[in-house]
Amino acid sequence: MIVEPLQSRNVRLRTATDDDAAFMLELRTDESLSRFLNRTDADLGKQKAWIAAKRDAADDLPLIIEDAAGLAVGTVSIYHIDAALKSFCWGRWIIRPGSMVTAAIESALLVYVQAFEKLGLELCVFDVRNGNAKVLSFHEKLGAHFMYRTSTDSWFFFSKDDFAAARSRYARFL
Ligand SMILES: CC(C)(COP(=O)(O)OP(=O)(O)OC[C@H]1O[C@@H](n2cnc3c(N)ncnc32)[C@H](O)[C@@H]1OP(=O)(O)O)[C@@H](O)C(=O)NCCC(=O)NCCS
Repeated sequence: MIVEPLQSRNVRLRTATDDDAAFMLELRTDESLSRFLNRTDADLGKQKAWIAAKRDAADDLPLIIEDAAGLAVGTVSIYHIDAALKSFCWGRWIIRPGSMVTAAIESALLVYVQAFEKLGLELCVFDVRNGNAKVLSFHEKLGAHFMYRTSTDSWFFFSKDDFAAARSRYARFL
């Protein structure tokens, strides 16, 4: 899927293109950043094909997080978009260390603006690896509801109404 870019106070969120393959690969193959992500082959051709396939799919949206100067600082995706259930998941979220401190909260808010307000979806259901304490705490602070834990992942939901409440709490970032 391809969408128009969105802008928050310091962050721009845009659809990934072929030209982002090397940057995405650099983040995904960085050992310290990929601990809680599925393994990615260090193969530029495969990464380009992956981006193209996701952009062509109706249920997936690979995105790039940019700073105010237009520099790519991270990546994230909205995926498993179910048009009938109006539900989605998001993740594949990586931000380069040393980026501005609000990159995480602003990119998360923009993901929800895109999904709930632009795509008209109503429910986000997502999982976080049990060991990923920082990201678990991030979602709890934003107001996600814990559902259950498997041996590997913790599952949460976050609704359109939850986002409306978070949006007013975090209006200063948007
Ligand atoms: C996941 C990831 C993108 C999150 O970014 P991050 O910058 O580490 O996010 P943080 O939770 O530290 O948040 C950044 C800042 O925003 C603040 N913040 C986070 N949530 C906030 C909230 N709800 N309200 C106010 N501030 C908040 C944090 O306190 C932090 O500021 P601090 O450093 O002064 O404490 C990043 O850790 C990463 O790339 N990790 C590796 C990949 C990964 O595991 N991805 C998740 C799998 S989907």
